[in-house]
Amino acid sequence: MDLKLAGMKVIVVGGASGIGLATTKLLLEEKATVIIWDIRPDTESIASQLAGESNGECSGCQCDVASEESVQRAGAWTRERVEYVDHLVHCAAVGSGKFGFPFSNLQPQDWLKNLQINIMGMVHVAHTAVPLIRKHQYGGLVFLGSVAGQIGSQTDPPYSACKAANINFAQCLAKDLAPDGIRVNTVNPGMVQTPLNRSVWQAWCDAQPEEQKRSYEEWAGEKVSRVVPLARWQTVDDIANMIVFLLSPRAGNVTGQTINVDGGFVMHW
Ligand SMILES: NC(=O)c1ccc[n+]([C@@H]2O[C@H](COP(=O)([O-])OP(=O)(O)OC[C@H]3O[C@@H](n4cnc5c(N)ncnc54)[C@H](O)[C@@H]3O)[C@@H](O)[C@H]2O)c1
Repeated sequence: MDLKLAGMKVIVVGGASGIGLATTKLLLEEKATVIIWDIRPDTESIASQLAGESNGECSGCQCDVASEESVQRAGAWTRERVEYVDHLVHCAAVGSGKFGFPFSNLQPQDWLKNLQINIMGMVHVAHTAVPLIRKHQYGGLVFLGSVAGQIGSQTDPPYSACKAANINFAQCLAKDLAPDGIRVNTVNPGMVQTPLNRSVWQAWCDAQPEEQKRSYEEWAGEKVSRVVPLARWQTVDDIANMIVFLLSPRAGNVTGQTINVDGGFVMHW
């Protein structure tokens, strides 16, 4: 299937790890040009390694989405290199790092880092990236939400609430940008083995008495087989496939949608 993404310029925020990295690799396979924005200090070298491996075009700019100034700098850096972009994928997010069940285990100030990175990060990225998108009735934005944003995950309320905000703000953007032909959608992964997912287990594990601690694999395997109809983990490629499809003209009439790639965990109509 030709996804007609060859030559398209795509910013992948959080593209140095997990789902963002898998998306970057898939976009490079499709012969798109990828610009990674990520907080990791090795972002530039990750990008040049990916460019070498794929024989494609990939560059990286270190950027902290929590800081408006840092995101604006990444925007200026991008404009200097490629002038405009066609698409944006925003994958950067963090968990609170604390076990939040019940919610009173956390203090209100435990929320602030999450709000700044996960919500304000999306706001900063939208404000900087949208003006970079070439208006040719074509561009696409994909934001990463989470099933946690739909069902209120008790393990990490700040993360869960931020993900609900991400879904909602993406719908506002979808309505605002539709007249320019820019489509905006959200992909909600279920459970994917990445550093972020592992950090949720770590926070749970740290809060358990010694005899109740379980390995990451046991904890997650049990959870997935109990609550997910397809009874398996999602992979980073499962999520990247949906993201890349949504960017492509094959999804040309899809905007404002929240698509779950979660093995049927959350079903809605
Ligand atoms: N892994 C899962 O099970 C799962 C489930 C539901 C939703 N998600 C969502 O998928 C997205 C990607 O998560 P992942 O699991 O691939 O995580 P990950 O930790 O593997 O990747 C996140 C990337 O974001 C970057 N990042 C973090 N803070 C940043 C900041 N302040 N500025 C810029 N970059 C920053 C990290 O360096 C990393 O490269 C997130 O939005 C997450 O909420 C993941």
